[in-house]
Amino acid sequence: MILKLHDVNAYYGSSHILFDMDLEVEEGDSVCILGRNGVGKSTTLKSIMGLLNPKNHASVTGSIMFQGQELVKKPTYKISRAGVGYVPQGRQIFPTLSTKENLLLAAKAGPDGSRFWDLDKIYELFPSLKNRESVKGARLSGGEQQMLAIARGLMQNPKLLLLDEITEGLAPIVVDELVEVVERLRSYNVSILVAEQNVRFAMSVSRHCYIIEKGSVVYYGETAKIPPEIIEQYLGA
Ligand SMILES: Nc1ncnc2c1ncn2[C@@H]1O[C@H](COP(=O)(O)OP(=O)(O)OP(=O)(O)O)[C@@H](O)[C@H]1O
Ligand SMILES: [Mg+2]
Repeated sequence: MILKLHDVNAYYGSSHILFDMDLEVEEGDSVCILGRNGVGKSTTLKSIMGLLNPKNHASVTGSIMFQGQELVKKPTYKISRAGVGYVPQGRQIFPTLSTKENLLLAAKAGPDGSRFWDLDKIYELFPSLKNRESVKGARLSGGEQQMLAIARGLMQNPKLLLLDEITEGLAPIVVDELVEVVERLRSYNVSILVAEQNVRFAMSVSRHCYIIEKGSVVYYGETAKIPPEIIEQYLGA
């Protein structure tokens, strides 16, 4: 088990957002958190990253174990250094820096000192970024910006990568490209936890799935075997 949340409760000020959440990611697996708007998907990923802290008037209780280390109450930089990569919702890349500068700024050794991901490896996985190497972030297409955001996450050589709604606002053809990228990532031994509303994308990239509603897990199982009535109930329009 690379990640194990147990009894996690999360709060913004006095608003209680996550309720007794249990969630696990096996090493090498790809897991999805599915749910409608505002159910707590981003809050779950932010809790893992240590972003619900007193500085942000937020808090987390319970246990979040990553490779045998307790993450609750650890500062974000230590969680990142321990090997958790994070691609926040809304692709936060540097708009005034080029693709290459964005990548180089993110580079750092993994927890074991390895620097597997360098520019060459990144351009192998994202050939379109190579062609756009000297283009400023703001001038990239939505799809290219998302690829760059994921690539920045990889430049930190994480063991586990958290991807928050990477399909948001992208055309179906670009979403298909992202499916390929995420599938190829798994062959590089990166474990993946994605938060999504896009059921089709989640089905294509994840093996296991948690459905959440109002901050609680309401369903867990193999993604390919989620009953249609469950999808309708929790994710239908
Ligand atoms: N900084 C904050 N302060 C107070 N409440 C917040 C804050 N951020 C989120 N919330 C509330 O927490 C709940 C969960 O939000 P969260 O962003 O985790 O949802 P989500 O599942 O990621 O939704 P979306 O699909 O829209 O991204 C929502 O009710 C939201 O209004
Ligand atoms: Mg969100």
